[in-house]
Amino acid sequence: MDLDLAPGGGDAATPRLLKADELGRIELAERDGRLVIRRDVAAARWWARPFARRAAAREARALARLAGVDGVPALLHWDGCELLRGYIAGAPMQQAQPRQRAYYRDALRLLAALHRRGIVHNDLAKEPNWLVRPDGRPALVDFQIAWTRGRRGRLFRLLAREDLRHLLKHKRTYCPDALSARQRAILATPAAPARLWRATGKRLYKLIARRLFGYWDNEGAGRVRE
Ligand SMILES: Nc1ncnc2c1ncn2[C@@H]1O[C@H](COP(=O)(O)OP(=O)(O)O)[C@@H](O)[C@H]1O
Ligand SMILES: [Mg+2]
Repeated sequence: MDLDLAPGGGDAATPRLLKADELGRIELAERDGRLVIRRDVAAARWWARPFARRAAAREARALARLAGVDGVPALLHWDGCELLRGYIAGAPMQQAQPRQRAYYRDALRLLAALHRRGIVHNDLAKEPNWLVRPDGRPALVDFQIAWTRGRRGRLFRLLAREDLRHLLKHKRTYCPDALSARQRAILATPAAPARLWRATGKRLYKLIARRLFGYWDNEGAGRVRE
């Protein structure tokens, strides 16, 4: 992603729309001389607004718990309607196609840091949620459906392992030679769908937004490795 807020020669202070769907709008904007990512719940359809607000609140909670973790956006503002995250320079995975081993080593560390703080991301199959920074290191965005309730028992471990498995699927695509035997074994044993569905029923609203009503996303069609 380039840093020009207004490609096409518009006003540099005009926010740039990154994505719009039933759950609202994501814009790159400038606040106090700083680039921020703005999620606007008020822009969601009326029927989707309660879901959008809950999802943004969950994202704010996750980001607050992850404050200071390198590779996770800073939470700058949340007022029940507008969520501001710090901008992280980089390109989404489907564009940058990270093939270096170091990317996956750092991504594993990043996941471990999330899980240590009791956060599971839950949406890592989507390439656009993985960024590749200009120095080649990973970053993660989009904590709307994250688990934020701490390291609790079997459910937490099940979901954390799915986070890991989704990362390994991307590694298998872009850097397969670097997969260890243990990583191949994890890839070969996904969690039982029924258990996973019980654990992630809250993802339903996102599926509805995506599959039934459609959405557009100018980041391009990033693959989803389910
Ligand atoms: N902090 C950030 N820094 C840079 N780009 C971001 C940031 N947050 C989001 N983006 C970009 O905006 C896109 C949409 O944001 P995201 O939080 O994933 O929204 P959604 O939940 O609607 O998918 C991301 O895929 C990413 O390309
Ligand atoms: Mg996303």
